[in-house]
Amino acid sequence: MQGTAHAAAVPLPGRIRLLRHSELPQFRDHLLRLDADSRRDRFNGPTSDSFVASYAERCFNDGTIVIGYVDDGQVLGAAELHERPEDAEPTGEIAFSVERHLQRRGLGGLLFARLVESARAFGYERLLVTTHPRNEPMKRLARSFNARLRFDQGETVGLIELEPAPPLPARPGAGALALAVAAVV
Ligand SMILES: CC(C)(COP(=O)(O)OP(=O)(O)OC[C@H]1O[C@@H](n2cnc3c(N)ncnc32)[C@H](O)[C@@H]1OP(=O)(O)O)[C@@H](O)C(=O)NCCC(=O)NCCS
Repeated sequence: MQGTAHAAAVPLPGRIRLLRHSELPQFRDHLLRLDADSRRDRFNGPTSDSFVASYAERCFNDGTIVIGYVDDGQVLGAAELHERPEDAEPTGEIAFSVERHLQRRGLGGLLFARLVESARAFGYERLLVTTHPRNEPMKRLARSFNARLRFDQGETVGLIELEPAPPLPARPGAGALALAVAAVV
């Protein structure tokens, strides 16, 4: 993934992790701080502060997975996964936001990789990302995660098919026992 190379070049002191329920205010403030262009790209059009604030609240109340880039208690980037229960296969709609001063450092790629990890852990098989056709950074990001891009009613939709989580060992517990024996001898 090319994003990782950017990250290595410019140190990012924060952490990428799942956000706790109590971190709704930090997530909301992150979305509200996005500059006008980034906010428009994120929400595919103009939005008011009150829309953004209630959107953040909805995410924390409807089971959306929210991963953040957290630095000194502030959320400065985020990746979201919204379940699409209407789809036959386990599918999530994903979205990303990185504050302007941190863009182009590989953070989008790192958030994407962490989101894919969580999606697989939850058994998702397909991820969808929707953006407008001129959103080059998002399209590049999606492509670097092997998304198949198509155009649909003026939007670009990327589809990522995930490898399923690995199966359990044939004899559950056998591995743990072998380790314990190895530790004794
Ligand atoms: C999309 C977004 C999350 C990418 O975050 P980022 O941290 O800048 O991403 P990265 O640094 O990992 O770069 C991702 C790719 O986009 C490219 N890129 C980043 N900014 C770019 C720009 N302004 N123009 C062209 N390409 C750009 C990078 O070169 C990289 O491509 P590569 O891996 O082929 O080199 C960020 O730009 C953003 O928050 N945009 C506003 C919200 C948005 O558009 N969200 C997507 C819709 S949900």
